[in-house]
Amino acid sequence: MAESNSTSEAVSYGYEGDVALICIDNPPVNATGIAVREGLVKAVEAINADAKAKAIALYCAGRTFIAGADIREFGKPPKAPSLTEVLDVLEASAIPTVSIMHGTTLGGGYETALATHARVAMKGAKFGLPEVLLGIIPGAGGTQRLPRLSGIPFALDIAVSGRHAKVEEGLEKGAIDRVVEPGEPRDIAVAMGKEIIAGTLPTRRTADIQAKADDAAVAATLDMVTKKNPHLINLAECVKAIGASTLPLAEGLKKEREHFMVCMNSPQRAGLIHAFFGERAVSNIPEAKGETRNLQKIGVIGGGTMGSGIATSCLMAGYDVTLVEVKQDALDRGVATITKNLDGAVSRGKMKADKRDAALAKLSPALEMEALADVDLVIEAVFEKMEIKKDIFGKLNTICKPGAILASNTSYLDINAIAACTDRPQDVLGLHFFSPAHVMRLLEIVQGEKTAPDVLATGFHLAKNLGKVGVLAQVCDGFIGNRILGHYGKVISYLVLDGASPQQVDDALESFGMAMGPHKVGDLAGLDIGYMTRQRRKEEGLPPGERYGGDIADRISEREGHGRKTGKGYYLYETGSPVPNPAVADIIDEVRAEKGITPKDFTEQDIIDRYMTAFIAEAARVVEDGTAKRPVDVDMVFLFGYGFPRHRGGPLHYADTIGAKELVRRIEAYAQEDANYWKVPPLLRKMAEDGTTFADLNS
Ligand code: 3HC
Repeated sequence: MAESNSTSEAVSYGYEGDVALICIDNPPVNATGIAVREGLVKAVEAINADAKAKAIALYCAGRTFIAGADIREFGKPPKAPSLTEVLDVLEASAIPTVSIMHGTTLGGGYETALATHARVAMKGAKFGLPEVLLGIIPGAGGTQRLPRLSGIPFALDIAVSGRHAKVEEGLEKGAIDRVVEPGEPRDIAVAMGKEIIAGTLPTRRTADIQAKADDAAVAATLDMVTKKNPHLINLAECVKAIGASTLPLAEGLKKEREHFMVCMNSPQRAGLIHAFFGERAVSNIPEAKGETRNLQKIGVIGGGTMGSGIATSCLMAGYDVTLVEVKQDALDRGVATITKNLDGAVSRGKMKADKRDAALAKLSPALEMEALADVDLVIEAVFEKMEIKKDIFGKLNTICKPGAILASNTSYLDINAIAACTDRPQDVLGLHFFSPAHVMRLLEIVQGEKTAPDVLATGFHLAKNLGKVGVLAQVCDGFIGNRILGHYGKVISYLVLDGASPQQVDDALESFGMAMGPHKVGDLAGLDIGYMTRQRRKEEGLPPGERYGGDIADRISEREGHGRKTGKGYYLYETGSPVPNPAVADIIDEVRAEKGITPKDFTEQDIIDRYMTAFIAEAARVVEDGTAKRPVDVDMVFLFGYGFPRHRGGPLHYADTIGAKELVRRIEAYAQEDANYWKVPPLLRKMAEDGTTFADLNS
């Protein structure tokens, strides 16, 4: 214990002359779990009862001041005292109080600081109210106390964006009272306590301040959040709560609680919190830990969109990068793309201009693979053809230094077959990036049969350094993401073939929360890619029993165009925004007539149900056969690589909200129409029988 009297396992207090010190020590981030809440109340009450001190300074041990409420307690039966009750006691303290903020003071942590009578922060520290990112709103007075200090517009900005602001900005806005040089939190606590006593650090109760009404700012923010994020209910609730901050504090807090509870009880809260923990859980596995290999020089083969994006990502993380292309013009194009990507990062505020120049200085373009002789890792990102990859890995085998890691960015191909072209298969793995590779956060780390443990752990280390979410996948056609996409992609074609229009499908899935429906995505990405793939596959013959080979999509490509880049595809783009292409309806009628299909009506819910059921069925098979380690790994692949709506938590988190029994019932009903496509995965049937959920399989 940092101080001599402990009031719980996480809180202690003591005295330095007239200054009482309360220390919170609750690793890793001093979250306000029950031990902190109980201990804090007891400490404030004991210090006030002692009546020995003239000031109370609250500080934290470890890396940060309180970083929020303990999210792990959400959804469980609440334990008294609530944080709101604790903060009432803190604010009411007859002895003036001050918070000493270091690290990241977030959510309930900043609300605690708002309830003390002054806030002192160390230079370089950050603060914020990120609750909206977890599907809730500040629920312990943040929406009421911050506007009283900073005004409503700044409170709206901080609470609606959830951003971590610099304490210097907080000082400017009145949200922080003083910024001091960094030091030991306890030393600063003693010094600030003495300043309160000397009258050089003013204190006041936030409750006593009247917030200045700003109806225009509240209305404009409400309008903005409803337009920008129509699916998220908590943003509007947050704005409304802040709007209530002109009421007396007790009434405002009551309003805040009402808005908070709407969010707390919503499935969006559960989905977003699953996403928060899931992002951390994917690398919390033995394969990601342990010895790693040295990584400083990275070679990238291929200067196309993918290779340039990977090189950009590595340069942004500070690695030396050698980019290899076979022809000078292709190499020049690759360097130009990397430069453009880095310029974009500067203009988006992701990188400072001097860092961009330093990154570019670390890029070495080369026309010969021999330039890769001394790199620690090679990432091959060339055309998706096995013969080409085998040839490259054969050459790398002779060129690269012993111990260099050899990775392929293949999206589908067999890593074991690629590794077999070398006499060092233990050094080979898949590193599957998602386009644009310097932006998308997913990295599938594909384990070959012979991949060495330190090679795999280095893959996770790389993901972390690149700011990506690394997810372990086993070898199969398409790994986790593209394999599942390949399956549910078919249901989209079936829906259109059987009666839905492309626009109806897009509208339904956008209403589910997808940023863009699949046909609009197709038009944006270019229909030619799918067209060429289907032509290749047609030459190989359709798998037995498959009832659709892409005739509608093929005819759109052949007769209309390849989407946005040609001005026509599923939609027309003459006016900028997409308008359904009438010629597509004719093509669909033509194909249905040829196949003797009488179109059926699908409701929006039918479309969502069929799409998600197909999605979940293949995801269940991916978990069942071990391609993904756990359901949460599948969820994170889709959140970070495919734009699956974050508030739904991922396909398998969403599956639990439906239940395995209902999913099996649906699949059996759909199988009446197409028993070849709709099959109940044995794992799902077992879950329906024994009541297991996907969440159970995560632990
Ligand atoms: N509750 C419980 N556990 C938490 C937590 C929290 N609020 N915040 C972080 N953790 C855990 C993480 O799960 C992780 O656990 P693990 O080691 O077992 O995986 C560990 O703390 C360290 O977290 P990170 O790996 O994220 O560490 P970083 O140093 O990268 O980041 C951080 C630290 C910036 C504090 C980041 O963890 C974060 O953003 N946390 C969430 C902050 C937040 O959202 N606070 C608001 C909570 S809601 C609230 O306060 C409601 C109130 O209004 C009533």
